[in-house]
Amino acid sequence: MNILVTGGAGFIGSHTVVELVEAGYTPIIIDNFDNSEKSVLQGIENILGKSIKCYNADCNDFDLLTRIFREDKIAGVIHFAANKAVGESVENPLKYYENNLGSLLTLLKAMKAESVKNIVFSSSCTVYGEPEQIPVTETTPRQPATSPYGNTKTMGEDILRDTVLSKANIRAIALRYFNPVGAHHTAEIGELPLGVPSNLVPFVTQTAAGIRQKLTVFGNDYDTPDGSNIRDFIHVVDVAKAHVKALDFLKNQPENNFYDVFNIGTGKGNTVLEIIKTFEKVNNLQLNYEIGPRRAGDVIKIYGNVDKAKQILDWQTTKTLEQSLQDAWRWQERLGKDSK
Ligand code: WQD
Repeated sequence: MNILVTGGAGFIGSHTVVELVEAGYTPIIIDNFDNSEKSVLQGIENILGKSIKCYNADCNDFDLLTRIFREDKIAGVIHFAANKAVGESVENPLKYYENNLGSLLTLLKAMKAESVKNIVFSSSCTVYGEPEQIPVTETTPRQPATSPYGNTKTMGEDILRDTVLSKANIRAIALRYFNPVGAHHTAEIGELPLGVPSNLVPFVTQTAAGIRQKLTVFGNDYDTPDGSNIRDFIHVVDVAKAHVKALDFLKNQPENNFYDVFNIGTGKGNTVLEIIKTFEKVNNLQLNYEIGPRRAGDVIKIYGNVDKAKQILDWQTTKTLEQSLQDAWRWQERLGKDSK
């Protein structure tokens, strides 16, 4: 079954391409390499022992998408392609609405035109904002987005839901990821943040590698056990496997019109300081960090209830937090000091 993976050269996309092949699917990548590097394709080939077809192109190109759907006999789509920097989205909202929503709208129109029925959409726990209760379930009310990036995830879910309700013969699943971290155990692929990382774990690994002088913990005066924020850090390979399970489910879905959402997390929360301590322990090193001021917009604590994905998608995590942080460091060591 041929699957178009948009943004397939990205962090989660590349790991999903590997899992798709290992599950017997034939992924085809489309990526404009705006936020990813061509070297990722070689890493994927080194793991799989074969190359993956890749279109170096943008998902906003309707004619190209319909041509790909026809020529490559695409049976489903996994849609990762999007800009994802929260801070940048606040500075440049039009770029985020145009790219993230524009590509989804173009994709859905092309799918309708060529009768491609199945889509798995990359959503995010950011739709929950600061939840009243944790762990959050899929019925926890979504909160008004705190950034244009988060809003494109909320609106993306609504676009899918309404398209399905219009009887467009689309079957869609939105996966709400928590915090994907780590890397493939071979260290052939991993996270490639462009510029100074905004996310915690790549900043941790770059500090340990000496690329960053010091890690700042954004606040330790929150109402949590050690005062730092709580998140649900999930191994990127477990996130990738969830996409395969979602496709398996859609492939066997009898309804022509279907929409549902699933939390993809570990079901456990860890604080920022626990991540640092665990990283130091499993990698036997000291991290240079300091406590700094809170970061505006940070959610204090969130982690997911993932029973629904377990019961309906037959998916659950296979990796531990320790493995995530070991794999993240092994990947950083492979990158050396050249990841700027
Ligand atoms: C995690 C925690 C920070 C950096 C965002 C998006 C989400 C998803 C993942 C794309 C927070 C703390 C961080 C640092 C720190 N994005 N931190 N020092 O904000 O939970 O989620 O990225 O899919 O949609 O919202 O992730 O890794 O930025 O922060 O103390 O240098 O680490 O304050 O508590 P976040 P994050």
